[in-house]
Amino acid sequence: MKLLVINGPNLNFLGIREPEIYGSESYEALLEKIRSYAKERGCSADCFQSNHEGAIIDRLQEAYRDGTEGIIINPGAFTHYSYAIHDALKSLPGIPKAEVHLSDITAREEFRATSVTAPACDYFLYGKGTDGYTEAMDLLLAHRDK
Ligand code: DQA
Repeated sequence: MKLLVINGPNLNFLGIREPEIYGSESYEALLEKIRSYAKERGCSADCFQSNHEGAIIDRLQEAYRDGTEGIIINPGAFTHYSYAIHDALKSLPGIPKAEVHLSDITAREEFRATSVTAPACDYFLYGKGTDGYTEAMDLLLAHRDK
């Protein structure tokens, strides 16, 4: 299964930013975990990170033509207000999508409790740390095999 993994703003600062919330593992360690789990499960994982909303939308639109079969996305803070990313996700109805958050966004500041992007996804995982990404992979594989 050809997967696209998108990480939004500040996720490249994993291990540096608020380790008490996001953990001490670096972004590179997260990529390593995603890639090795993908390999184990017979998937390929194209990992993309950007701090820019438009770049994320451009990458999502590319998925329409590049054979992507599943998307895992952590939109970072865009989760809470980017209707443009919501619309880009909605534009790919044939591709199953899982939204992942490292932290439990339902139990933090009020503004984080709402995701405007999750309703455009098939699966929504939060509060599982980096395991959320590998669980999302399992869900997308199970979705394919349904
Ligand atoms: C996050 C949660 C968001 O609220 C925050 O802005 C992030 C990371 C998470 O993975 O827990 O950047 O998406």
